[in-house]
Amino acid sequence: MERLDKFLADSGAGSRSQIRQILKSGKVSVDGRPIRDGSMKIDPMLHRILLDGKAMLGRRRTVLMMNKPAGYVTATEDPVEKTVMELLPEEYRHLDLKPVGRLDKATEGLLLFTNDGDLLHHLISPKKEVPKIYYARHEGTAGREDVLAFEAGILLRDGTRCLPAVLTPLGPGESLVQVCEGKYHQVRRMMASRDLPVIYLERRKEGCLSLGELPRGAVRELSGEEIGAISGL
Ligand code: URA
Repeated sequence: MERLDKFLADSGAGSRSQIRQILKSGKVSVDGRPIRDGSMKIDPMLHRILLDGKAMLGRRRTVLMMNKPAGYVTATEDPVEKTVMELLPEEYRHLDLKPVGRLDKATEGLLLFTNDGDLLHHLISPKKEVPKIYYARHEGTAGREDVLAFEAGILLRDGTRCLPAVLTPLGPGESLVQVCEGKYHQVRRMMASRDLPVIYLERRKEGCLSLGELPRGAVRELSGEEIGAISGL
């Protein structure tokens, strides 16, 4: 059993204050009876909850973008380390969100979360080849040979062959790297194989999504349009 107002919030009916208004106006019914008391306990499996005649389903499909700071591991729980889940605002904690793919503890930047299993699968499947762009500060200076090696598909030091990728040198010790896969420590290992060890790494883009002005450590919900765009990649 859970509170009706919380259930409505999870269904995407509005902010807490909007939901108070909606309840007051008598637009919500539980099993056909208008209910104005948000503290009423309901069981979504047993009760039929309508808002303006429309069925409310509870957990809404949510996709969040985080600008991950360094120092947090990408995991739903960890016995020792701080996890990215700790950075989610309270209102998103019960939505069963999972990180999409993984950024290393030291890596910063764009990290998506969703409770939509199909979308999660779509975004992390190497077959879909969703491009991701990273900004890297590294030792040494990347040159033409490195660009060509990325284009051909880097052979990692452990013998793994990577898919073709795009290396764009920005100047001494700075490059952009575009990859379509998510192997363990992929960008760091690709750069290391060219003797360009990474000092700092930030993911700036994933598919059509960019970090934009989202401050470090902050989270925002993707709009319906953005969700449509990444689902259709
Ligand atoms: N590649 C890496 O090496 N680390 C990340 O966190 C992401 C991509």
